[in-house]
Amino acid sequence: MRYPLVAGNWKMHKDLAASQQLTSEIVGMVGSEADSRVQVVVAPPLLFLRAVNKLLAEAPGIALGAQNCHEANEGAFTGEISAPMLRSVGVQYVIIGHSERRQHFGETDAQLARKVNAALAHGLTPIFCCGETLEIREANTHFDFVRQQLTDGLFHLEAAQLAKLVLAYEPIWAIGTGRTASAQQAQEMHAALRAHLAERYGPAVADQVRILYGGSVKPDNAAEIFAQPDVDGGLIGGASLQSRSFVDIVKAAAIAL
Ligand code: PGA
Repeated sequence: MRYPLVAGNWKMHKDLAASQQLTSEIVGMVGSEADSRVQVVVAPPLLFLRAVNKLLAEAPGIALGAQNCHEANEGAFTGEISAPMLRSVGVQYVIIGHSERRQHFGETDAQLARKVNAALAHGLTPIFCCGETLEIREANTHFDFVRQQLTDGLFHLEAAQLAKLVLAYEPIWAIGTGRTASAQQAQEMHAALRAHLAERYGPAVADQVRILYGGSVKPDNAAEIFAQPDVDGGLIGGASLQSRSFVDIVKAAAIAL
């Protein structure tokens, strides 16, 4: 039985006051409406991690996430934040390899593998993202492409490390576009990824790894996607910026998963 997870990735949205307000609303609503069967994660902009974490003290079921970290512990890397720094302000999860980081900041699989190591070494749970472009899907090479992202980013890990990790399958053509993958497309990719993990680490380890779906998840499509056997929750962008829609997605996970 995998413990479902719904994470809100706020990206570069919300100032301090808006971050605090959104957090307070989510804390108030999740407490009364969701279910302790779902792990909820919020990933605000780095600058507001501490302020958000203070408000999360009242909600033990909601964990703090970061959207990125550097691969080194410290050093001359102007503008960057390391895994131990995140840990020191209460971060528990870190999104690694989001397609926007790969695309706009040139992050490579080799670099992401080092970031995963840094996160694990400091007790953070990586939410490792993968997913194909529309071109790759139309060329029908998406399974190979996404499997390769896992191989390159993760397969250097020991089984015990891999088992701690969360994966997020996010087809790039579905991110922020309103065009979601169908529940069937999500399920078939998630099953393929779990089979790929099983080939390398065995079925027992593969069965422990939570695989989230991300890409235009909304309250009205969440239940169907979460009902798929290999979908263990969601990584939510746009719909996580409003408490009502985010909490409705959390509720859908509590019912479906
Ligand atoms: P979206 O973003 O829900 O706005 O499509 C998902 C993501 O980028 O994680």
